[in-house]
Amino acid sequence: MTSLLFPGSFDPFTRGHLNIARRAAKICDKLYVVVMNNRKKTYAFDLEERVNMCKLALQDLDNVEVVGSDGLLVDLFKELGCNAVVRGIRSESDYRYEAEMALANKLLCPDYDVTLLLCRSDLSLISSSIVKEVAHYGGDISGMVPGEILKLVEDRLMKGRPL
Ligand code: COA
Repeated sequence: MTSLLFPGSFDPFTRGHLNIARRAAKICDKLYVVVMNNRKKTYAFDLEERVNMCKLALQDLDNVEVVGSDGLLVDLFKELGCNAVVRGIRSESDYRYEAEMALANKLLCPDYDVTLLLCRSDLSLISSSIVKEVAHYGGDISGMVPGEILKLVEDRLMKGRPL
């Protein structure tokens, strides 16, 4: 059985993340979507909220399990017995960042491996930061976040929006 691990901050989970998760779920028996913390980021949604959003957005995929972790990626990689980690790349700068992270993780865990999926071009300009920025000013984010979590994200991020 092949299992892959798709880690990220997912603050919030976007249509770009959803596309990567769907494609990754097709090439393995089991996909773990793992909501983690990146120490360089401050989050709009706490870990539990991010886990819940991922669960809602991915509920139609039978071979996907969503978990949250505040630890090291390699520890979870070993614990879950995954074959590789999956990450989506949008650009050359994403590739550099992924290569650096993969190298560090491989030093910590020699069995560590990563599969990089190229983001769909029409989704490649979406980021969690852009979602937060547009929503803050009351813009339309329906094309950026999965429908299942749209209201949740809007209610939290659209300041001054009448509830
Ligand atoms: N797939 C993935 N990311 C996409 C994307 C796509 N198709 N399209 C756009 N993106 C964006 C995301 O929205 C996000 O945007 P943002 O920077 O505006 O928030 C950015 O690309 C990447 O963020 P995300 O995928 O959510 O993850 P991250 O880079 O914040 O996550 C962790 C990095 C959590 C995996 C990493 O910090 C980690 O492993 N943490 C655990 C601790 C650890 O082991 N550290 C050692 C690492 S060497």
